[in-house]
Amino acid sequence: MGKEYKFKPKTVKKIKTGNRKIKTKIPVPQSKNVIKDLKAYEPRSMSGLPLIVWDKAKGVHIFDAYGNKWLDFSSGVLVTNAGHGRKEITNAIVKTASRSLHHSYCFPNKERADLAKYIVKKIAPPYHDKVFLLTTGSEAVEAAIKIARNYAHKISGYQKDVIVSFEHDFHGRTLGSQMAGGIEGLKEWIVNRDPDMVNVPIPDGFRGPDQSFDTFLRTLEERNVKPENIAAFCMETYQGGSAIFLPKDYMKKLRTFCDNYDITLIFDEVQAGVGRTGKMWGFEHYGVKADLICAGKGISSGLPLSAVIGHSKMMDLFDPGSMTSTHTGNPVCSAAALANLKLIRKEKLTENAAKLGKTLKKRVMAIWKKYPDRIGFAASKGLVASLQMVAKPGSTDPDHDTAFDIIKVCIENGLMLFAPVGTGGGSVKLAPPLSINKKQLLEGMDILDKAFETVLG
Ligand SMILES: Cc1ncc(COP(=O)(O)O)c(C=O)c1O
Repeated sequence: MGKEYKFKPKTVKKIKTGNRKIKTKIPVPQSKNVIKDLKAYEPRSMSGLPLIVWDKAKGVHIFDAYGNKWLDFSSGVLVTNAGHGRKEITNAIVKTASRSLHHSYCFPNKERADLAKYIVKKIAPPYHDKVFLLTTGSEAVEAAIKIARNYAHKISGYQKDVIVSFEHDFHGRTLGSQMAGGIEGLKEWIVNRDPDMVNVPIPDGFRGPDQSFDTFLRTLEERNVKPENIAAFCMETYQGGSAIFLPKDYMKKLRTFCDNYDITLIFDEVQAGVGRTGKMWGFEHYGVKADLICAGKGISSGLPLSAVIGHSKMMDLFDPGSMTSTHTGNPVCSAAALANLKLIRKEKLTENAAKLGKTLKKRVMAIWKKYPDRIGFAASKGLVASLQMVAKPGSTDPDHDTAFDIIKVCIENGLMLFAPVGTGGGSVKLAPPLSINKKQLLEGMDILDKAFETVLG
């Protein structure tokens, strides 16, 4: 474990621009009781983020209750794609809640029907015709695995059961999604792992420098996995911690491999989906089709809602009542998600992400060029980017403490980032709301640039 945020209020430079205002010590002394209560009454695992008590958030700005304002490069954690607290989403929430329908379990409600129809007709790829609404990203991954295995068993029997996924990928923290994920350290608590869940090296060009598809095939052989026994390949569209996309050629080969062996290709788009990378779905960058899509986070820009999207040949295999969830299609969350998706399309926020993505990439690459010995790898597409700090020049060992310090300086200067993520917590990740404009993006990048200078000299 490296550095952690401690509640030690520090006098910092006062700031006042249209996008940022810092007028108190950071963390704010008056916020002490909130932080103290969280520490006292929640598990320690819930800490780890900068100690800023969010009071309200609007568009690309986050406010505390003490007069400070941050320009947001976090989107929560890649959630508020349409921006924080959008009026249209708030109105949809208030309208549904004040009609007094907060819940209907799986009894039909109109908001769920409207959302399902909109997702299938306007958001899903044309070859998908069904959506299963859930609450969290982990649940969506669990459901996709369940659907894919069920489908495989039906077409080929129970021996077709293996779920393959990439090392370093993250798919959630519930038992199945965590086992499917490829971060070993997060799986230490699971003693009896599913022997039919297998990780293969990720060809990301950094921690997985070997990008040949033959290596993938050889790895399966070494692990005694027969292609015909694979039910699904489940992958993060871009590797979440690092924002790295895989080579297009590799992905085309993977798609063909899946087609040849009736393997369900699941794209976990919980993070990459809904416009984040400059396309509605990140996998579109690869020019391949998805058999199942897991969506979450940005699908609602705030309220808990996730989804599995696919074709009825797979989605309809479970009998009535056998694939449901208590909060599936919650009316308030559905109304919020529908308003969010309409906003993203109406305001062309996906297109904005694609356009501003060029500016973000240029600035990210310029920082990498300045510190080639301390940044092992940088990646950027649409409005998501990451700079991976390394302990030694040329190594892939993550340098959490430096990433931590850079983020701390950003926070003190009015730029909101979440704590370092990715392998060993070495990654400084950038993910502003897709509603950001160029001026705001550049202001944020100037702060980041200066923070690197402050920490690395
Ligand atoms: C790619 C990916 N999949 C799944 C999840 C899990 O989503 P949730 O935290 O909503 O369960 C996350 C969350 O960060 C994610 O980034």
